Amino acid sequence: MKVRRVRKGDLSRVRDVVEQAFGDFFERQLGTRPRTVFNGAQYVHHRWLMEPWGCFVAEDHEGKIIGAVVAVMWGSLGVVGPLAVLTNYQNQHVGQHLLRAVHEFLDENKVALAGVVTYPNSPKHLRLFHRFGYKPKGLVAIMSRMVEPAGTADSSRADGGRVPKIAPAVRPFSGLEEAKKKAMLQRLRRITTAVCRGLDVVKEVEIVDGLALGETYLLENGKDLLGFAICHTPGVSEAPAGTLYVKFLALDRAHRRPDHLLFLLGALEAAALEGGLGRIVVPVYLKYFSAYQVLLDRGYQLDFTMVRMQRGRLEDYEDPADLVLDDWR
Ligand SMILES: CC(C)(COP(=O)(O)OP(=O)(O)OC[C@H]1O[C@@H](n2cnc3c(N)ncnc32)[C@H](O)[C@@H]1OP(=O)(O)O)[C@@H](O)C(=O)NCCC(=O)NCCS
Repeated sequence: MKVRRVRKGDLSRVRDVVEQAFGDFFERQLGTRPRTVFNGAQYVHHRWLMEPWGCFVAEDHEGKIIGAVVAVMWGSLGVVGPLAVLTNYQNQHVGQHLLRAVHEFLDENKVALAGVVTYPNSPKHLRLFHRFGYKPKGLVAIMSRMVEPAGTADSSRADGGRVPKIAPAVRPFSGLEEAKKKAMLQRLRRITTAVCRGLDVVKEVEIVDGLALGETYLLENGKDLLGFAICHTPGVSEAPAGTLYVKFLALDRAHRRPDHLLFLLGALEAAALEGGLGRIVVPVYLKYFSAYQVLLDRGYQLDFTMVRMQRGRLEDYEDPADLVLDDWR
């Protein structure tokens, strides 16, 4: 068995391996095989474009790809996953070889924190990542809500009667002149590095913009940038079919008020509706308790939970008052 970096020609096979391995895993967990794994969300192609050096495959002695792992650097934070090994090759240390390769990559890049999201009810997964120094930290909730035209019974109830007392505006990043995008990316960096030193999700913004995977929405009040949300829409992105998916959202520390988050969520829900999407999916790490509370207040339901595992210097950096929604899957 050999581990090597992913090449362009491998991408379809890597996607197959990931979908087969997870399909088998879900079937074992749920008793039935999902018709489409991840409900149409895709994780391989654009992540490889973003971070080609962070993607590895394992090949058997005939050169057949039997496993794969993908990692993306968000500045000081390295996010690992998906990791997958074909069922017939599991429990033969293939997964650990892949993780070793990916951690060499993370070490070369001097990550201050590495993170994975995994299944809290699987002793195998917890043990596997523990072996690499990861500690289970807290739950991630994948939450969602149907979106309906304003004025319907459901949307008025879901606001909990709370009307934002501000007059901010939301505009799409893709609408900025090319010359202004660079300066805006710098402002986004300032927001994320205040949340976690060195955290930088600009390449997620750039790939969404460059490949039209969705849109990044900027929440502004006059000249102030209050926050932003990177969203994917279905097609070849991480959005499940029929949904607008929030990959990352953060409010500037100076403006982290629940009504700002409510306002931005309202704009994202409106964007989903406008795009003909009936549902919005948002991940929330429960250590960001204020953000979780806002989602509950707005009528979001909890679809399922996973556990975040972390290793490195910046462990436990989260401030529960930060209004952040970030998905490490
Ligand atoms: C998770 C996954 C990648 C692991 O790959 P793998 O090649 O089977 O992993 P390895 O063989 O390198 O290591 C697994 C270890 O877990 C151990 N293990 C297996 N079942 C276990 C259990 N019930 N409790 C504790 N440890 C267990 C194995 O014995 C092995 O440890 P060892 O080195 O002491 O023998 C693979 O199972 C997979 O693709 N699953 C489906 C997709 C998935 O869940 N991906 C990860 C999402 S975070």
